[in-house]
Amino acid sequence: STYNFLIVERRGPVAVITLNRPKALNALCNELTEELTAALDVTEADDSIGAVVLTGSAKAFAAGADIKEMQPKSFTDVYLEDFITASWERASTTRKPIIAAVAGYALGGGAELAMSCDMIIAADTAKFGQPEITIGILPGAGGTQRLTRAVGKSKAMDMVLTGRTIDAEEAEKIGLVARIVSADDLIEEAVAIAQKIAGFSRPSVLMAKEAVNSAFETTLAEGMRFERRLFHAAFATDGQTEGMAAFLDKRKPTFNHR
Ligand code: HXC
Repeated sequence: STYNFLIVERRGPVAVITLNRPKALNALCNELTEELTAALDVTEADDSIGAVVLTGSAKAFAAGADIKEMQPKSFTDVYLEDFITASWERASTTRKPIIAAVAGYALGGGAELAMSCDMIIAADTAKFGQPEITIGILPGAGGTQRLTRAVGKSKAMDMVLTGRTIDAEEAEKIGLVARIVSADDLIEEAVAIAQKIAGFSRPSVLMAKEAVNSAFETTLAEGMRFERRLFHAAFATDGQTEGMAAFLDKRKPTFNHR
């Protein structure tokens, strides 16, 4: 692969992107985030890819932004370079489904990156936290926003104001993660979920993702209207024709992703 800090592999219609900076527990340095943006541009553009799995190592999904890189920065530095949104937004703007498969530490920017994905599958070893407060800052890539929407005010305040790390079990209980699996099975399970999604008709998958995301952006009435428009639009796709015909014929659908 052409990346210094990523490994990108194909598993059928799924791209698996592995953060690979073991010496720093996958701390998200500039170069790593730039590579991740580039890799996600590639997966978005490749028609043969239906879904993405983003993962790290057994010890760390990612231990946050790179503290060594951040320490010398001034307000003017971070303001002028728009640290950190420019390079970190890519996971949250993908149209194809992206699953975070988290083992070990997902801290600070690492937790925020996982929350930028569509769902989090956690190994039983996963630990989530927003420890920014302990180093004199606050979350800057969604830790006060996506976390609060995911788990509510009280748990978000608990994590953001104390820096407390929670384990996989608590993360699942509060709705931060979709499923917990054993650490040994994490990648296989996440890939299986991604492959299942990639097998469905792509237009309806993308519409479904877009519709769920709109729930975070709008009022209920507006969201219901948006959903209805996309629902109607799905009847213009080959996937609807084929999916419903296959059901009535009692056979498996063959989606052409159109
Ligand atoms: C740079 C990091 C790092 C980080 C770990 N390392 N996290 N380097 N930035 N965020 C490096 C360590 O310096 C060390 O390098 C090596 O990785 C191994 O880490 P250890 O601390 O020795 O490992 P361990 O004792 O197992 O502790 C693991 C840990 C701890 C609990 C995860 O590393 C830790 O607390 N890391 C920082 C977590 C954090 O505060 N994250 C939030 C960052 S702020 P050497 O060279 O010594 O071997 C943030 C803001 C995002 O993310 C804002 C977005 C806009």
